Amino acid sequence: MLNVSKIREDFPILKRLINGKPLVYLDNAATTQKPQAVIDALVDYYSNHNANIHRGIHTLAEEATAMYEKARERVAKFIGAKGAQEIIFVRNATEAINLVAYSWGRAFLKKGDEIILSESEHHSNLIPWQLVAKEKGVNLRFIPINAEGYLDLKEYKRLLSTKTKLVSIVHISNVLGTINPVAKIGKMAHEVGALFLIDGAQSVPRMPIKVEDLECDFLAVSAHKMLGPTGIGFLYGKKHLLEEMPPFMGGGDMIREVYLDHSLWNGLPYKFEAGTPNIADTIGLGAAVDYLEKLGMENIFKHEKMLTEYALSRLSELSYPSTPLGAGLRIYGPKTTENKTGVISFSIKGIHPHDVAQILDKEGIAIRSGFHCAMPLHQKLKIPATCRASFYIYNTKDEIDKLMEGILKAKKIFKI
Ligand code: ALA
Repeated sequence: MLNVSKIREDFPILKRLINGKPLVYLDNAATTQKPQAVIDALVDYYSNHNANIHRGIHTLAEEATAMYEKARERVAKFIGAKGAQEIIFVRNATEAINLVAYSWGRAFLKKGDEIILSESEHHSNLIPWQLVAKEKGVNLRFIPINAEGYLDLKEYKRLLSTKTKLVSIVHISNVLGTINPVAKIGKMAHEVGALFLIDGAQSVPRMPIKVEDLECDFLAVSAHKMLGPTGIGFLYGKKHLLEEMPPFMGGGDMIREVYLDHSLWNGLPYKFEAGTPNIADTIGLGAAVDYLEKLGMENIFKHEKMLTEYALSRLSELSYPSTPLGAGLRIYGPKTTENKTGVISFSIKGIHPHDVAQILDKEGIAIRSGFHCAMPLHQKLKIPATCRASFYIYNTKDEIDKLMEGILKAKKIFKI
């Protein structure tokens, strides 16, 4: 298991007081905090190695290029890609999905084709497909979720047909914490000849991932949710698919030869990385991967399961129906950790989630309130907003107890 008190020492921000109270950071599904090793990697790059990459032949340019490409190799190994050419650096998971929608979607989709998504998708795995569907005359189909937050796989089977060209599904829901059975979903997609994309924004930070085991053709990831900097993420794609896809954006570095009237594209992965990339933050992502690998992804997964289990049991002390501490708290999604981790959304009868979040903030506790970039999921659950607590490697049971105390305080203030 993780040595959490030692880990906490690596995160300078955890020493902060918020409203005079020690910070309890439970908004990790939105973004995680950064260890000193990642901050140091950024400072070291700008202090000692800053130069543009793939262009100059001077010492700094070669150092910067080597550091950037080393980060790509680390990422490839981390997710079990066959090679670094399968890793395209982008700004975030959203851009990774847009890359596939605009490049693959525009080139290969045609009128009447179908894309299958689910009702629990983050907007980043919905809007890009709405845009490409409108442009190409493609139909979007949705796997429903049941009241527990699980995908209805019988309905998924019914939706699949030879018209299905792509299935794109979130691995861990950023609202419900549900771990979707992506390997099974991917296998079923492949059986009808469709491609399979996984939105790994919440799963890659918190569980061991090997792309081959998950039957995925594309995987979209953001660095800032796994200890890395903001403004950097990556798309994993199978080499033969990326090779067939046209460029997403045009500019320097993505070309091999340029003439006034046409150009020839660079090889992978550079074909998809036009212009000077986010060099510093990519190196920061490499440092984040090193940090996570030292802890061990299995250990991280176990730690979060333990915290989620504890939080579910503490929060259920306040759940429907009447409980000793009084009814009023409702947890959304699975109620056990069998297929859930890291994220718990809840509401308290009679208190708006924003008010809960504000009262908790006074206690130094950071949670997120709102619809968490998943409006259709909230529409399905018939709720305007939820409170969301999400955990990571530095969180403790003691912090979950503080969350409970904060919620009880909110109930007292609102006389509930
Ligand atoms: N996707 C992020 C979240 O769920 C921003 O909060």
